[in-house]
Amino acid sequence: MATLTASRQRPAESFRIHEDAPSTEDTQMNENELQEQEEGDERDKEKGDPEAVDNPESEYSESSDDETEESSIQRDMEKLQDTFPGFRQKYRLIKRIGEGTFSTVYKAIDLDYWDYDNSWDPEKDDTFVPPRPVGKYKTMQCVMDRLWFDEEVKRKTRKYVAVKKIYVTSSPTRILNELELLHDLRGCEAVCPLITAFRSTDQVCAILPYFRHADFRDYFRKMTVPDMAIYLRSLFTALASVHSHGILHRDIKPTNFLYDPDSRRGVLVDFGLAEREGYDCKPCICHDDPVQRKAKLRAAHLASSAPHNGYPREDTRPSRRANRAGTRGFRAPEVLFKCTEQTTKIDIWSAGVILLTIMSRRFPFFNSADDVEALIEIATIFGQKRMRAAALLHGCMFETTIPTIGSSGFSLESIILWSTQRDGPGKGLSDEEKLAVEFLGKCMELDPSKRLSAEDALSHEFLRMGLDEPVEGGSGEDDDEMDILKV
Ligand SMILES: Nc1ncnc2c1ncn2[C@@H]1O[C@H](COP(=O)(O)OP(=O)(O)OP(=O)(O)O)[C@@H](O)[C@H]1O
Ligand SMILES: [Mg+2]
Repeated sequence: MATLTASRQRPAESFRIHEDAPSTEDTQMNENELQEQEEGDERDKEKGDPEAVDNPESEYSESSDDETEESSIQRDMEKLQDTFPGFRQKYRLIKRIGEGTFSTVYKAIDLDYWDYDNSWDPEKDDTFVPPRPVGKYKTMQCVMDRLWFDEEVKRKTRKYVAVKKIYVTSSPTRILNELELLHDLRGCEAVCPLITAFRSTDQVCAILPYFRHADFRDYFRKMTVPDMAIYLRSLFTALASVHSHGILHRDIKPTNFLYDPDSRRGVLVDFGLAEREGYDCKPCICHDDPVQRKAKLRAAHLASSAPHNGYPREDTRPSRRANRAGTRGFRAPEVLFKCTEQTTKIDIWSAGVILLTIMSRRFPFFNSADDVEALIEIATIFGQKRMRAAALLHGCMFETTIPTIGSSGFSLESIILWSTQRDGPGKGLSDEEKLAVEFLGKCMELDPSKRLSAEDALSHEFLRMGLDEPVEGGSGEDDDEMDILKV
């Protein structure tokens, strides 16, 4: 691990995992093994569809299946608690809250919360600790009252954490990368902070504050346009911080943005696929100026040994390798076109897909089985002409004879009207929706250099919706309320 990380850009103050004493089980991987591990990772990056709608047949499954699952979860929780010495004194596992591609996440009580500096905790000031009764331990009743009071305070001020048990099959580099990036991002607004991490032989678990959130599928259809603006403002606030640190999240999707519709607060989680901008990059012509790019394309076309009309039966050209980590349906066009110099703009596209999902009331909006199908889905909206231009940006060709892909495609407005069954006469979008669609168009721009940045998005009129309006009723009403609370 040391040899690999040494060549990478490390922050001045690097993150350290709490490790157990070096064990004989720790394996020193040689270069070949590392290579294999990395290739394995590359394959792992192709995620399935965790949001896939539950199989309706599962409702008829036997209750004994549930019991078996429950007892297997219990067994896993016991095992986790036994893996780390002292774990039981620090945390009490409550239940499993997530099972992802790379980890299982549990909710737990942080038993030692009050023994530590919690300046990182955005909710620390919301915790109301009532004053302890002043009575002395004179009578048995007093003793009982104090004990009861202490228990009650503990219960009310109970702090929860999310324990992310990273699968041992993840490569050490990838695990370290996730923890390092989280460490770099500490203090960033709307980004889930890392409290600490533990390692015991090959098992690593990260401790994060627990964030109350609702299932996206339960609220996205009910969202009004101002609700959408607040949701996205929170997401883009997180993205602006992450991007200002030169970090690409690479896996922006609803399950990685934990949102509580009641408090209207959200946090970005899951930096398992995140990377530093420029890491493992090779120049792509999309970063050249248009004249230079055109010249390079023409030269490449003339020098190509491939037939200039038609396709070779057996293509001997070397395949292009580019990072395509992410979740299907949320990948930006440049990722699908295997751009070798991807930027933070890939996250903006994915955030745009979330907005399109909310506005169209359809989840998942894109439902392709592979990257070629994903390009076809995007082309259905944007049309052949724009897709051809988008492909050429990265030195690719886009050609199709699929009859449903027109030359000019459709506007995002018409897609939303169609998917919300409002495509009849006189059923247009409201002014607020039109503003949201205008913003959406800037996020789902095929050319990453023309796509909005997170910083610019935050000053867009749509994300500022409601921010510039004066607070109704002025400060007087609120003050009265505060006074009542203080009494
Ligand atoms: N801090 C947290 N507070 C509350 N719940 C959390 C927290 N972190 C993660 N979760 C829950 O666990 C799930 C999986 O977490 P995470 O995305 O970090 O893991 P993953 O293995 O990379 O998942 P996936 O492959 O599905 O993206 C989340 O979708 C969320 O429901
Ligand atoms: Mg996730």
